[in-house]
Amino acid sequence: PYVIGGACIDVMDKSCMEECPVDCIYVGDRKLYIHPRECIDCGACEPVCPVEAIAQDRMLDAEDEPHIDDATTFFYEILPGRNEPVGSPGGSHNVGDLKVDTPFVASLPPNG
Ligand code: F3S
Ligand code: F3S
Repeated sequence: PYVIGGACIDVMDKSCMEECPVDCIYVGDRKLYIHPRECIDCGACEPVCPVEAIAQDRMLDAEDEPHIDDATTFFYEILPGRNEPVGSPGGSHNVGDLKVDTPFVASLPPNG
């Protein structure tokens, strides 16, 4: 799948969301997350991000590699303050802004 890296943190431009044909880009608190099982690898989101935060997993910069596993954490582990995993809602607009991040993203310093 495609993955959103650290450049999105505290920026959250959201242009990517409008391009995704399967609505698999979900809104956290400081960052957006691409659903690793819902993404169909179409690549439409990548060129529209103004801070070039998005890449296919195998093309990510080394410093962004933790965001690959972190995307799985976001959807399939229980995030702080929630009772169950986000799972696979089948569309970001079905769930709205989730207003939560993974512990990894929450721990990162302010961006920009
Ligand atoms: Fe983030 Fe870029 Fe999308 S800043 S919200 S990945 S357009
Ligand atoms: Fe959507 Fe980007 Fe995947 S547009 S399908 S998240 S490659």
